[in-house]
Amino acid sequence: MKANNSNQITLPIDENFTTSYKIIILNKTKFLEELEKLENSEKLDTIKNQIISLKAIINNYSNDFIGLININMNGDTISLRTDIIIDELDQILKSQTLERAKYYIKRLKNSIDKVKTNKINDINLLKWKEYNDVLTDSLWIFDKRDASGSHLGWYWGNFIPQIPYQMMMRYTKRNDWVLDCFLGSGTTLIESKRLGRNGIGIELNPKVVDEAKKYIDAEPNKFNVISEILIGDSRKIDLKPILNKYNINQVQLLIMHPPYHDIIQFSNDSNDLSNSENTESFLKKFGEVVDNMTPFLEKGRYLALVIGDKYSKGEWIPLGFYCMNEILKRPYILKSIIVKNFEETRAKRNQKELWRYRALVGGFYIFKHEYIMLFKKNEVNKNAFIE
Ligand SMILES: C[S@@+](CC[C@H](N)C(=O)[O-])C[C@H]1O[C@@H](n2cnc3c(N)ncnc32)[C@H](O)[C@@H]1O
Repeated sequence: MKANNSNQITLPIDENFTTSYKIIILNKTKFLEELEKLENSEKLDTIKNQIISLKAIINNYSNDFIGLININMNGDTISLRTDIIIDELDQILKSQTLERAKYYIKRLKNSIDKVKTNKINDINLLKWKEYNDVLTDSLWIFDKRDASGSHLGWYWGNFIPQIPYQMMMRYTKRNDWVLDCFLGSGTTLIESKRLGRNGIGIELNPKVVDEAKKYIDAEPNKFNVISEILIGDSRKIDLKPILNKYNINQVQLLIMHPPYHDIIQFSNDSNDLSNSENTESFLKKFGEVVDNMTPFLEKGRYLALVIGDKYSKGEWIPLGFYCMNEILKRPYILKSIIVKNFEETRAKRNQKELWRYRALVGGFYIFKHEYIMLFKKNEVNKNAFIE
């Protein structure tokens, strides 16, 4: 947190994002009182004049003769993003009718006084404008990975921390449980610790787990959540004992980032999906993982699949869509397909010219994207109606 002057504070809304906003701290009771007066006013001009005065105070505290920024230590305060509150006040100023102005005033009052969230996350819908770090578009272009804290990106084939961050912000609440059944270097568990979600990870390769543990342990646990890692094959592992240990039956988010078949061979273990003989056996094994994990995902909650396609013997293999079909054979509905850019690996960067030449000769396009596919577990079993 940086202090600009005695009253104004610049506070990054989230440490994962570099953007910072000016925050203003107001006396909540006083602010609500002022808004209530405006709501009861019957003259549009009076409302607008008062809004101009409020804006003047927010822009320059020396204009505060009503005690709006009078914050005593035990008083009820409210922190607001200056740009957003000014925006809201401007909207009131632009109102053409008394009714419209009152409608905006009421909305602003509610956003200060109340919290409205849906069942699956903690996003306060009355302050939805403040969450511009939470993505809602289906095309994601990241120019750099989040390399803060324990996110060192040491594992070849990891995903960028922004992926589990986005998933947890949209699809979990504080203290919910997240399960990642292809844990790799533990990106999901580092992020779940940061966001105050409990995390369970499953990873086949014990050596990778040893390394991942070091980084997960190094991440501060400021919300006092649980991070549990299991070594095993996600097709067969029995999750019941571990859930029983924590007195839970199910998790609230399932993240799957399987090998993209044999693009990277992660180990010599025959249970490793990256060692599947062909696309069919890869998909069969992937389906077995989905079958083994699904009973432990709460109904109405989300499965996030992160996957890319592959190119083999002159043919584009749409692994992403094949895996999507496997999931859709089970009790899920498709909610979104996000296309995310692929950062260039150093090896690819060095061979850029060569790849471009190959693409021109071979009549194909070079992979620049992967998918994040979102599925919601059905409230009712859709297969129950199929004879
Ligand atoms: C694409 S990586 C996941 C990377 C991870 N998201 C990260 O950020 O580090 C896939 C992982 O799945 C593991 N894996 C492969 N087959 C598995 C299986 N049957 N059960 C559990 N893990 C498996 C591999 O060892 C590899 O670490």
